[in-house]
Amino acid sequence: MDSQQIASQREFLKDSLRLAIDFRFTDQHMGIEPPPIQKPTQPEQQLINLPLPDHHNSTSLFDAIAGRRSHRRFIGSPLCLTELAFLLWATQGLREEVAPGTALRTVPSAGCRHPFETYLLVTHVTDLESGIYRYLPREHALVLERADDDLMEKLPPATLGQRFTATAPVTFVWTCVPYRTEWRYHTAAHRVILMDIGHVCQNLYLACAAVGAGTCAIAAFHQELMDQLVGVDGEDEFVIYLAPVGKL
Ligand SMILES: Cc1cc2nc3c(=O)[nH]c(=O)nc-3n(C[C@H](O)[C@H](O)[C@H](O)COP(=O)(O)O)c2cc1C
Repeated sequence: MDSQQIASQREFLKDSLRLAIDFRFTDQHMGIEPPPIQKPTQPEQQLINLPLPDHHNSTSLFDAIAGRRSHRRFIGSPLCLTELAFLLWATQGLREEVAPGTALRTVPSAGCRHPFETYLLVTHVTDLESGIYRYLPREHALVLERADDDLMEKLPPATLGQRFTATAPVTFVWTCVPYRTEWRYHTAAHRVILMDIGHVCQNLYLACAAVGAGTCAIAAFHQELMDQLVGVDGEDEFVIYLAPVGKL
């Protein structure tokens, strides 16, 4: 191991950088408008409204935490839209829009920047055709980005041969839009972005318990193939984490 390289990578984990940043020169302090809280939709895209979350599928918080584990085997059953809507709300749902560019959600985020978009790779969800969808937290709705019947073949190579990904009825894929956090924190943004995404995925693990489903966090994937699969540019938006979900 190159100890110098390791030492320099370790620096990324520390917050020392913050003291070196002159926050008077961040885009926020320079008076630049905050970026929107979610990507816009295209005029031709129709919204698929999602059922509002309720308590009918609740499990106890104790049971959800005590039973949390990663699942890589799923029974063949589909998820229904109500279950999917609950998982989306639990991971990125909006609580309140407090100011332009600032919205509180069901997960915390450094500086309330929430630098993520949620894409769903759907192969077996009741009432949804197979394809790639995006969640709109503000509307609590989905938009179809692209119909695709070949997702089961495309997922294993895009996850470096993790074959179980092909068996999930739906895979959550979170992309990062780094500027949302850079706007406030400049180069101190990237460390907290990684912290933010951990909260999102943990909520998915716990919410899955309430709908008889399971998931497994995936951080090992082929960056370019995953970016191509969801249709993002790989620069201003790129895949950061994913999680296949299925019934147990
Ligand atoms: C950041 C992170 C990345 C992970 N990446 C993968 C992955 O690429 N493939 C996989 O099968 N599991 C992955 N896992 C799941 C871990 O292997 C799993 O959490 C660990 O073995 C402990 O098991 P448990 O979650 O059942 O407690 C990841 C977990 C985390 C938190």
